[in-house]
Amino acid sequence: MKDLDRLAAPGTPERELVDRLTPSSLPRHVAIIMDGNGRWARQRGLPRVEGHRAGIRAVRDTVEAAARLELEALTMYAFSTENWKRPRWEVRTLMALLKEYLAKELRTMVDNNIRFRPIGRLGELEPEIQQGLAQAVELTSKNTGLTFQIALNYSGRSELVDLVRYAVAAAHSEKLSPDTIDEEWVAAHLTTAGMPDPDLLIRTSGELRISNFLLWQIAYAELHFTPVLWPDFTTRDLIQAVADFARRERRYGGVVEGGHDNTEEAAE
Ligand code: IPE
Ligand code: IPE
Ligand code: MG
Repeated sequence: MKDLDRLAAPGTPERELVDRLTPSSLPRHVAIIMDGNGRWARQRGLPRVEGHRAGIRAVRDTVEAAARLELEALTMYAFSTENWKRPRWEVRTLMALLKEYLAKELRTMVDNNIRFRPIGRLGELEPEIQQGLAQAVELTSKNTGLTFQIALNYSGRSELVDLVRYAVAAAHSEKLSPDTIDEEWVAAHLTTAGMPDPDLLIRTSGELRISNFLLWQIAYAELHFTPVLWPDFTTRDLIQAVADFARRERRYGGVVEGGHDNTEEAAE
């Protein structure tokens, strides 16, 4: 890691955690369900939209920290297909903040070698946002550092529905036969095609649920739930989650040599 001092100042507890991380103990891909903006605002007697505004700072800091940690990918859940159910003014504010974010952060993404990649049913977003997204994709497409995926009008189920529709249409036109379909084929036809599955999924605000995020991709993700409300989430919280991940033992359904004691075997 190059930018260590900017990630965590020397002598701080976070720096100690970072110093203990080895490249192989780091997650390649971190996914985050950013939750708790509304509650953050309510605690302060502010309207919900102020929580969303404050949440932008946390997005900016987290993207930067992920780039400094040299992660391969960061996927953040910004707007779900179910979030259209919210009051019109709240949806409008979220879309306005997204436009503002794209305009302000494009430069930072370009300068930090970040590749921007929106996922979700983007065609249902307003044209101006679609243009902003396309521009950000285009201007960052040659970058080789962190891939920053932002999930907009996204849900895991709608993504799977779209995939099934595509497969049926392709089968009808005889471009696809059932035996072509295996797990690799499915992964390669999701919006996240080409990215490794998330190793670590973080959800803020104390809710213990997935809320329709990356259902296929998180099959073996390690889960990290924190009570911190999204606007209060800092680089320190990301480092803590990553350090916690580094201590986990992943088994993928198998057994790990030298892992946890197998009592039956020990008794033999
Ligand atoms: C997360 O914060 C932001 C989005 C879903 C866009 P919320 O707005 O869900 O905040 P709470 O859960 O009401 O506190
Ligand atoms: C999940 O948060 C969606 C995003 C973070 C964009 P929600 O606040 O919408 O989820 P629920 O309603 O608590 O499950
Ligand atoms: Mg919420």
